[in-house]
Amino acid sequence: MVFPKLVITIVLILVLFFFIYESEGASYSSGSYNVGHGADINTPYDHQKVNLSVYYDSLCQSCATFIVKDLLNVFYNNLISIVNLQLVPWANAYVNNTNNSISCQNGPDECELNSLESCALNLWHKVDIRYYLINCFEYLVIGGKSMEWVNCLSQLGLPKEPIMKCFNMGNGAQLGKTYINQTAQLYPPPSFLPWVVVNNQPVGKDYANFAHYVCKAYKGAAVPEVCNPPSK
Ligand SMILES: *[C@@H]1O[C@H](CO)[C@@H](O)[C@H](O)[C@H]1NC(C)=O
Ligand SMILES: *[C@@H]1O[C@H](CO)[C@@H](O)[C@H](O)[C@H]1NC(C)=O
Ligand SMILES: *[C@@H]1O[C@H](CO)[C@@H](O)[C@H](O)[C@H]1NC(C)=O
Ligand SMILES: *[C@@H]1O[C@H](CO)[C@@H](O)[C@H](O)[C@H]1NC(C)=O
Repeated sequence: MVFPKLVITIVLILVLFFFIYESEGASYSSGSYNVGHGADINTPYDHQKVNLSVYYDSLCQSCATFIVKDLLNVFYNNLISIVNLQLVPWANAYVNNTNNSISCQNGPDECELNSLESCALNLWHKVDIRYYLINCFEYLVIGGKSMEWVNCLSQLGLPKEPIMKCFNMGNGAQLGKTYINQTAQLYPPPSFLPWVVVNNQPVGKDYANFAHYVCKAYKGAAVPEVCNPPSK
């Protein structure tokens, strides 16, 4: 009878592990995070989920509105439980290969904020922290106050040093080249921003309605309420 006991113990440990993991993932409301420690592992890639990728530029107003207003809903209606959300800045930037510098559509200020956002996206791996930080930056963009970005870190209880270090070392722009390459692989290429792609299919001008495309693409069992037609 040792064998079944062992199996039960293993199952219990796995269940416990699952709950610890889940509650860590949902810790946004506490207002502060453990960052920069080994425990803060990457969000595991989930093949059941739908890839939702948003190609944008930090000072593009339609992008800011989409990120701040429309995308916020994924955390309220639980669509986030079925998507791998990927934010890809630098969508309209290009690398001048002669001198290896990046130019941004809305000028150097946009390159600067794109760099900061790239640092943010690569420093913090939990999807809610990433999103709420970019949301805060883009909210400032809408109000023309993007220079006050540092306040977003204090608001979310995140440390300033790692992002300053990343930015000052030029790592944000280096990451930018990776994002620019990633955007260059898109077929068809973006013809406006934000360019929203659901499992490799661009949703075009209907981007505000992205949840519809995500629900349609989802093949898993745990369908969130938002994907169900309204019941009579
Ligand atoms: C690239 O940079 C070089 C050197 O600064 C400049 O002469 C050239 O016009 C740039 N090319 C583009 C497409 O901006
Ligand atoms: C590269 O060339 C662009 C013009 O295309 C110029 O604005 C920029 O200052 C140059 N960068 C460097 C590092 O020389
Ligand atoms: C981006 O693509 C160019 C051209 O294919 C390549 O030379 C460069 O190394 C790539 N950069 C990064 C950071 O992936
Ligand atoms: C989602 O993206 C990942 C990583 O790029 C890729 O491996 C996977 O095939 C994509 N899934 C779908 C359904 O397109």
